[in-house]
Amino acid sequence: MIIAIDGPAGAGKSTISKLIANRLGIMYIDTGAMYRAVTYYFLQNDVKFDDKDEIKSSLDKIDIDFDRDKVYLCNQDVTSQIRSKIVNENVSDVSAIDVVREKMVDMQRLMSKKKSVLLDGRDIGTVVFPSADYKFYLTASVDVRAKRRYLEEQNKGNINISIEEIKKSIENRDFIDSNRKISPLKKADDALEIDTSDMSIDEVVNKVINIVGEKDVI
Ligand code: CDP
Ligand code: CDP
Repeated sequence: MIIAIDGPAGAGKSTISKLIANRLGIMYIDTGAMYRAVTYYFLQNDVKFDDKDEIKSSLDKIDIDFDRDKVYLCNQDVTSQIRSKIVNENVSDVSAIDVVREKMVDMQRLMSKKKSVLLDGRDIGTVVFPSADYKFYLTASVDVRAKRRYLEEQNKGNINISIEEIKKSIENRDFIDSNRKISPLKKADDALEIDTSDMSIDEVVNKVINIVGEKDVI
């Protein structure tokens, strides 16, 4: 069984995906973390985003793994580094590069082979698994999404960042993600759209579980 969850930044995808995958006892793949890990690698190794040869040879060296809540890049734990401001600022540009997407999609399909998997991202229902068993498109107003991210930053102790700054960064990423040529962010025609603006995490989880059906799963 494949469950695809797509949507813009801060819609609640990874939070609810983790909870649902746990409840169903299936694997969760955070595809955004994969694009973030590649971006981190490019920044660390000064890979120029317009140098195709350098990009291709770097991609050959890149290996991404998940273990519980941790993300590993070439066996190094990069879980916190991939959420940094510099990665936020560059990830949408890296994600628009065709060869990067080809490699990530191949990896995602390989990781999902012969398993029940829930994947969240931007192009899961449209490109990676167009015939997924269940497709959801999570949204929320940009103000709600910015506020959620702001609260996260506050909880991490980052008190110097303003909601306006976060909102701008989210809008900028949404714009690049929705307007790129390859696999832009959009709702698959057959995906169920859930506006989470006024919903609690539990409400969203229960809505999805009601549709997927807990007993469907091994
Ligand atoms: O958690 P947040 O929504 O902020 O972002 P993310 O899911 O970690 O994704 C980070 C970035 O990776 C997005 O803004 C997209 O540029 C890119 N991405 C993508 O292009 N395709 C995916 N399937 C997942 C993420
Ligand atoms: O993965 P994505 O960027 O779509 O969003 P996220 O990182 O899962 O969620 C952003 C924040 O919104 C998290 O701090 C969640 O706890 C919160 N959230 C919420 O407050 N209400 C919801 N219905 C869903 C998420």
